[in-house]
Amino acid sequence: MSTPTATATPVVHVDDVHAGYLPGVNILNGCSLIAHQGELIGIIGPNGAGKSTLLKAIFGQVNIRSGVVTLEGDDITGLPANKLVARGVGFIPQTNNVFPSLTIEENLQMGLYQNPSVYKERLEFVTSIFGELGKRLKQRAGSLSGGERQMVAMSRALMMDPKVLLLDEPSAGLSPVRQDEAFIRVSEINKAGVTCIMVEQNARRCLQICDRGYVLDQGRDAYTGTGRELLNDSKVTELYLGSLGA
Ligand SMILES: Nc1ncnc2c1ncn2[C@@H]1O[C@H](COP(=O)(O)OP(=O)(O)O)[C@@H](O)[C@H]1O
Ligand SMILES: [Mg+2]
Repeated sequence: MSTPTATATPVVHVDDVHAGYLPGVNILNGCSLIAHQGELIGIIGPNGAGKSTLLKAIFGQVNIRSGVVTLEGDDITGLPANKLVARGVGFIPQTNNVFPSLTIEENLQMGLYQNPSVYKERLEFVTSIFGELGKRLKQRAGSLSGGERQMVAMSRALMMDPKVLLLDEPSAGLSPVRQDEAFIRVSEINKAGVTCIMVEQNARRCLQICDRGYVLDQGRDAYTGTGRELLNDSKVTELYLGSLGA
């Protein structure tokens, strides 16, 4: 959590991005987002709104036709994933985010392939948040539950000491208890100083823990505000939170 000043350079700035997968078809239609140092940013919105595409646009996985993405003021628009990881962008996709045939330890080492010398130090940080993983390093990731895999995926991304962590629906497909855990862990990661940008279908829960949120609709940021403002906004509630109940 932080109180950013208006003049501080954002960690991530997505500025008026148009992007898409197929020629002539834009999925993001002028989408903008700012994440300041230490913030936890939530992105919510209906299915197909372009939430995952926005994270992929930051992480160089989709063609950006116009607009700019900056990291601490540097243009990173369309850089390949390995360069982005080296610059401190961590991305946890929604699915297939661990190597199932590898052990937990090997998964964590994979997260650090660009800088293996700091393994011990980073492992200490990661197990300070994910203590139980530290006791099970030799277990194969493929034998873990969905919730446990999500923890391994977060841990792996944290090994590189990212400036910003992009999380695509960390609670999706998990049991209610594991969903709670996923939200708690994201909060802990953020409280440890990592700027986080999280996409969530569990909109209400997401807005409750984020500093600021963006409501995406049809590839545009339709509403933005603090988590509390969005939760209390009658339009947002009616259009995007209604059926999820209080
Ligand atoms: N790899 C892809 N190729 C072509 N179209 C895609 C691809 N991935 C997503 N889309 C399309 O982009 C739109 C937005 O998808 P997505 O960003 O996944 O939405 P959300 O995460 O908000 O549910 C959808 O219409 C989807 O069909
Ligand atoms: Mg998605």
